[in-house]
Amino acid sequence: MEVVAKIVDGVYYVGVNDRDTHLFENIWPLTKGVSYNSYLVVDEKTALIDTVKVSKMSEYIEKIHQILGGKKLDYLIVNHMEPDHSGAIASIVHAFPGVKVVGNNRTHDFINAMYHIDVNFYEVKEGDEIDLGNRKLKFFLTPMVHWPETMMTYEMNDKILFAGDAFGGFGSLDGGIFDDEVDVNYFENEIRRYYSNIVGKFGPMVQKALQKFNGVEIKIVCSTHGPVWRTNPMHIISAYDRWSRYEYEEGVVIAYGTMYGNTEKMADYVARVLAEEGVKNIRVMNTSTTHESFIINEIWRFKGIILGTCTYNNGIFPPMENLLINLSHKGLPNRVFSVFGTYGWSGGGVKGIVDYIERNKWQMVGEPVEVNFSPCEEDFGRLRKLAVEMAKVIESE
Ligand code: FEO
Repeated sequence: MEVVAKIVDGVYYVGVNDRDTHLFENIWPLTKGVSYNSYLVVDEKTALIDTVKVSKMSEYIEKIHQILGGKKLDYLIVNHMEPDHSGAIASIVHAFPGVKVVGNNRTHDFINAMYHIDVNFYEVKEGDEIDLGNRKLKFFLTPMVHWPETMMTYEMNDKILFAGDAFGGFGSLDGGIFDDEVDVNYFENEIRRYYSNIVGKFGPMVQKALQKFNGVEIKIVCSTHGPVWRTNPMHIISAYDRWSRYEYEEGVVIAYGTMYGNTEKMADYVARVLAEEGVKNIRVMNTSTTHESFIINEIWRFKGIILGTCTYNNGIFPPMENLLINLSHKGLPNRVFSVFGTYGWSGGGVKGIVDYIERNKWQMVGEPVEVNFSPCEEDFGRLRKLAVEMAKVIESE
């Protein structure tokens, strides 16, 4: 007996949990696992919406058989082709011969190029509908949320939005599947981490997608990851709206790279001054021990970013440089930056970060503080000044 859940009569959750994979996309840590959500609509005709990663196949197919009970599968709706959702397409086509695979023109190209299989493809365009008998499915094309072929499927009777990656996050579904069955704060943090790491680069496209649903009643949000939002779908829709507008809260992230503790000492001092100046949300994060996935998540949340580095081979300490490369990929606007760091004989770490900031046209607050080996009293004075200026900017709104 496999775990399935009824969303409403005739609509079922048939997703799976993955607690085996260490890195999502082979980059982002899955410290709390992840779920690959798939949904089955059983009406006069039947439709499976999105599939799961290939590693969970036998459990997944068993769930579908368990609900269909010998009924034919008529449609497989492919909202998104990233392999965490498209991995089971070939197996579904094999297990349910004749199933119509539904997607847009880009979906078909991607199926051909990724899996080299012949499918009975049914192309839909913006606003097209499929009649299942008592229920109708309507399609909204939402490119770049998260890939160009991405679309969403809206079930018109019970007003359920099958949203693809949108509104979803990391974290396996450990018993609780619905928002009213889980600690929403636990998931919200992992949803923001998924958003900032995976989808965040495409904020304007997320906004465009959200605008398509102005005036469309949504009672239930079914994402391809994380909980099903049946009690308070507006909670996650509003959060997504804020994140994709790049809104921020009052707070500062201090990310630092240190070899022997001197740059860390500066980070702790800056944090203390910020606290004295009234900043309550301060996150001090070591780039050597904290994966950039978690640092980017905090940076998405707060306005102030203070970067500290020691000098390594005449440049930025490599774990810090890795964070900067990732940050510049995300294109995050409207944050403010400050810089500090150390050098032994050549310098180059602080200058390297300042160059990044200028290249990305990020706003700088205060004078960068660069220290020879270890901070002296005068250096702490300069750090105090920098922290006070940052606190003023943070609290100015
Ligand atoms: Fe959950 Fe873009 O894949």
